[in-house]
Amino acid sequence: MRIQSITDDFGGTVEDIDLRTIANGEVTELRLALVQRGVLVCRSQTLQPEDIVNFARHFGPVEYGVREDFQLPSNPDVYVISNIVENGKPLGNPNDGFAWHTDLSFLAHPTAFTFLYALETPPEGANTEFASAAVSYDRLSDEEKRQYGQIAVRHSYEMLHGTRKGARPLTEAELLAMPDVVHPLVRTHPDTARKALYLGPDTSLPMDMEPAAGDALIHSLMDRTTQRELVYSHAWRPGDLVVWDNRTMVHRATEYDRGRYRRLMHRVTVRGERPS
Ligand SMILES: [Fe+2]
Repeated sequence: MRIQSITDDFGGTVEDIDLRTIANGEVTELRLALVQRGVLVCRSQTLQPEDIVNFARHFGPVEYGVREDFQLPSNPDVYVISNIVENGKPLGNPNDGFAWHTDLSFLAHPTAFTFLYALETPPEGANTEFASAAVSYDRLSDEEKRQYGQIAVRHSYEMLHGTRKGARPLTEAELLAMPDVVHPLVRTHPDTARKALYLGPDTSLPMDMEPAAGDALIHSLMDRTTQRELVYSHAWRPGDLVVWDNRTMVHRATEYDRGRYRRLMHRVTVRGERPS
């Protein structure tokens, strides 16, 4: 196994590895690289759904998908992202993730690691883009670090759902199952002790701030985090497995010609700690 840097600040490409037969020593090395580099790319894998789940389990407890309609019927630990419709039924979720975000930040114990595996990819578009909210934190002034270190932020599944165009309203039961949660704006990584901004624009608002001002703050911090020169844009090929650490990274999907191309991705997520 060899790991090459993608940018000076974050990201790594892992070569000479088969994730189906990974040894314990390699898991330790990979995990260290992952928490330090934020995102790792493993090309040319051949993974069945259970292979992705087994690999993910090395990194913590696998989460059960939030939206049951897009779970893989044969393996509900796997969430399907796709524009493909078969027999009138969508294979997966075609719509989420086009704004910068971290995964499932509206949970009390949000996602630590996301594993995304490409089965079918358009020849153009449909990239996944990454930026480091730890790098972004490091670039703040001392005064900003002090100020933002004191801000608590309310994250809301209801707010996220409100951004889904044409979606039916959430039911009472869904709202009860997904109450708002409060996380710090600056979180400390449990393994590396590195600090990072924890950002969910359009799905979160700072406490004790006027909503418009709070919303503007979160968006401006995300804009600073995702300046073009700080972004790695991953162009997918079938067989790519990309894993990232949501404690330090933000990401988004980019658009593609959905009428022309098919996209099929399998996603597994591993639950993390309560942010602090
Ligand atoms: Fe995501």
